[in-house]
Amino acid sequence: MEIIRTVKNLRKELTPLREFGKTISLVPTMGYFHEGHLSLMDIARKSSDIVVVSLFVNPIQFSPNEDLERYPHDFERDEQLAEERGVDIIFYPDVKEMYPEPFYTYVSTEELSRVLCGASRPIHFRGVTTIVAKLFNIVQPDIAVFGQKDAQQAIIIKQMVKDLNFPIKIIIAPIIREKDGLAMSSRNKYLSTEERKQAPTICKALTRAHEEVRLGNKNAKEIEDLIREIISRACLAQIEYVEIVDDSTLDKVEQIKPGTIVTVAVFFGKTRLIDNVILLKE
Ligand code: PAF
Repeated sequence: MEIIRTVKNLRKELTPLREFGKTISLVPTMGYFHEGHLSLMDIARKSSDIVVVSLFVNPIQFSPNEDLERYPHDFERDEQLAEERGVDIIFYPDVKEMYPEPFYTYVSTEELSRVLCGASRPIHFRGVTTIVAKLFNIVQPDIAVFGQKDAQQAIIIKQMVKDLNFPIKIIIAPIIREKDGLAMSSRNKYLSTEERKQAPTICKALTRAHEEVRLGNKNAKEIEDLIREIISRACLAQIEYVEIVDDSTLDKVEQIKPGTIVTVAVFFGKTRLIDNVILLKE
């Protein structure tokens, strides 16, 4: 496995491989790998000849009051885990390499980036789409793999690829959960013992809601209320939103149909957790 720190060197490495007809997949990450990230690498490994994992904590997707400074990192551990999963290249640039000054150009998916998480994180998705577009241009992968855990991000990236004609197949990989149901996230590390104990309530509420929908209740408002009620039983939980939305427009729906997404953001103390379930889809 190679670790490459500059755009120039990455291009030098990938150009001949592409010319030899090798297919390339990209897994964009911010590091501090857990089983969720590793599952994306496994999918990439199965889907292409060359697997590139980018590891870059992207400052422009964090607002000044967010956790950029304390975002967890452990490059040596990440390197070892990626190597074990058969990754070929880790692209590990620094901030100057990705945002040489001056930097003026941003990619924005407009309305899609203003709702749900975008309502409380106004610059977040513009930062995500800008860095992902840059990575797409740098790596020029055939395939890129993202996690369903960030449902809004997945929808936004699919829309960006369509709108900007990136010739890239996007694979969205299922959420990987801890044994007690908590969706894996690098931010779970911030939870106190008591918060960690209560956090699986989110998954329990989503599972219970999904059962209710399967039993025939298609009324979004009632399902939303049920989820709120269950999550609120965890005394440390502060709900930011519970929304039932269309899986491409992110518009709120009144009636649930296959593919409708229930998406939630909940604070446990200062830690903001997100989770979602795609309804009636398996
Ligand atoms: O999902 C993430 O970790 C990030 O938002 C991404 C896609 C790597 C862009 O920085």
